[in-house]
Amino acid sequence: MEKKEIILTGDRPTGRLHLGHFVGSLRRRVEMQNSGKYDGIYILIADDQALTDNADNPRKIRDNIINVLLDYLSVGIDPAKTTICVQSALPALHALTFYYLNLVTTARLSRNPTVKAEIQMRGFADEGLPAGFFTYPVSQTADITAFDATVVPVGEDQLPMLEQAREIVEKFNRIYGDTLVLPRALIPENEMQRRLPGVDGKAKMSKSLGNCIYLSDDPKTIKTQVNGKMFTDPQHLKISDPGHTEGNVVFTYLDALCTDEHFASYLPDYSCLEEMKEHYRRGGLGDGTCKKFLISVLEETLTPVRQSRARWEADIDTAYDIIREGTARAAEKTGETLARVRRAMKIDYFTDRSVIQEWKDLLQKARQ
Ligand code: TRP
Repeated sequence: MEKKEIILTGDRPTGRLHLGHFVGSLRRRVEMQNSGKYDGIYILIADDQALTDNADNPRKIRDNIINVLLDYLSVGIDPAKTTICVQSALPALHALTFYYLNLVTTARLSRNPTVKAEIQMRGFADEGLPAGFFTYPVSQTADITAFDATVVPVGEDQLPMLEQAREIVEKFNRIYGDTLVLPRALIPENEMQRRLPGVDGKAKMSKSLGNCIYLSDDPKTIKTQVNGKMFTDPQHLKISDPGHTEGNVVFTYLDALCTDEHFASYLPDYSCLEEMKEHYRRGGLGDGTCKKFLISVLEETLTPVRQSRARWEADIDTAYDIIREGTARAAEKTGETLARVRRAMKIDYFTDRSVIQEWKDLLQKARQ
């Protein structure tokens, strides 16, 4: 039998999804979904993981489950092809996490560069580090392995997570026999798809910095973000001055989003981005023109998403059924994996009655 290719991805429901998510992961998920190349595609709304650093604010997580779900649906995640599920309703993930925790050392967890950076960012170094947050890479390993995922499409920052998952899988299989599927990371090949900076040029879009363009933003908000916050080249003072396109946020966004068709529709002076860039570098192309073009590109990209979201917002009952049914399917799948794991670990006492005879024999032998 040919090996199955199964994808698992996930997001923490801590806010609405933004253009950074779209460029870095969502549009690729839709492509993979529609390629027909995969035997199973699961998207996990990782609410339990979100609680590891939001234990005091469960309301925020609850509210954002629906936001994230509607963002998925409005970019084209199709529930007929992709199973969308909610982590907290999958008890097999909790059980797997508990067993995997025995297969990692605290020293190993402390070395994870992603977690290290996140601990700094959240101020846990001073405040005290929740053990649940510290161990979330182990819970993420449970997510990945519970679905028998072979492929995990992630950003570069999640590579240490995959490394950790592979170590746990290898250790589990060494101790208990070949049981878990070894997953691999799939990183975007294209530099432009890796990370979209915030509109202010800061490395990451983040709610607290106010530098995001959300998928559900209205046209006026998008315009304000681009015209008001996006910097270009500080040395490009007059239109006739030569300009830099590297590190120029407007061009970074165009790199990530625009196509030759966008030029035909909105800026027919150029046939492609390279031509436009050359003119900017030479001098004679104003920032206003560049921003106006970018706004058109953003509008063309986000209008269908916004419209779809409005339709879904008017039909929450259907959206609810989608995650309810998705979660039920996921519960079945992850439950099967947990049963396999318990069997391998020889702790399946109540599914395998042969243990009764085993115990009888054992005691019999002890009496002899
Ligand atoms: N850690 C991911 C994030 O911060 C979310 C996530 C949870 C995830 N479980 C996963 C991603 C499993 C990939 C695979 O967005």
